[in-house]
Amino acid sequence: MKIFIDSADIKEIEKYVSWGICDGVTTNPSICLKSGVSGGEEGMKQRLIEIARLIAPQPLSVEVTSDDLEQVLNQARKFNTWAENITVKVTITDRNGNSLLPAIYRLVSEGISVNVTAMMTFNQAILAAKAINAGMAKTSARKIHNISIFAGRISEEHGVEQAQKVLEDVRQWLDFHNYKNIEIIVGSVRSPENVDLWGKSGAHILTIPPEVLAKCLLSARTKETVVQFINDASKAMQQL
Ligand code: E4P
Repeated sequence: MKIFIDSADIKEIEKYVSWGICDGVTTNPSICLKSGVSGGEEGMKQRLIEIARLIAPQPLSVEVTSDDLEQVLNQARKFNTWAENITVKVTITDRNGNSLLPAIYRLVSEGISVNVTAMMTFNQAILAAKAINAGMAKTSARKIHNISIFAGRISEEHGVEQAQKVLEDVRQWLDFHNYKNIEIIVGSVRSPENVDLWGKSGAHILTIPPEVLAKCLLSARTKETVVQFINDASKAMQQL
């Protein structure tokens, strides 16, 4: 299972790269806002290119800022030129529930790596996978594509077990139908308990916000044990 950092904060990403646990980064407009990205599209471009360089060749998901089909296509094509390791993120539908699968199918067929995002159901995920697969049949490019299932948001409405079931069912479906090059990303991870559960769902990737990742390392008993070792080490050194 891979770990992505769900952030556009350079310092946080640098930290987890230095820990050796960053297999990629995911962003979206809300994350860019939270991470203090400013300066309009140029500011966003500079920050995202910096992240892409920092983690290369690992992938960076960059989300389009429009839900209009033509604008999605144009923006995605533009973002794709910013760095080789950029995956373009497109929501499964627009704000009114209209399908964005035509854009997804088209972009994949043009050889652009796509991450279909904001998905809550099994049905959405398999339709996204089918559109990606159909796009892949039209190109010789062999890129990895993602389907992002927002497990945290599913849980808020239906509980963590339902989120787990969606993840397990989608993974089983992908494997059963031999869908290659499509990896599930678990999104909206809120706690170490979520990591503990969904890390065993069969999803290929968990994208984790820095604050949750930091908590995953902690255990009161570990701290207590390290204190004991350090104290005993200094006593032992005095006796030598
Ligand atoms: C995933 O790629 C998304 O960026 C993210 O996990 C969404 O999480 P949210 O529910 O906190 O917006």
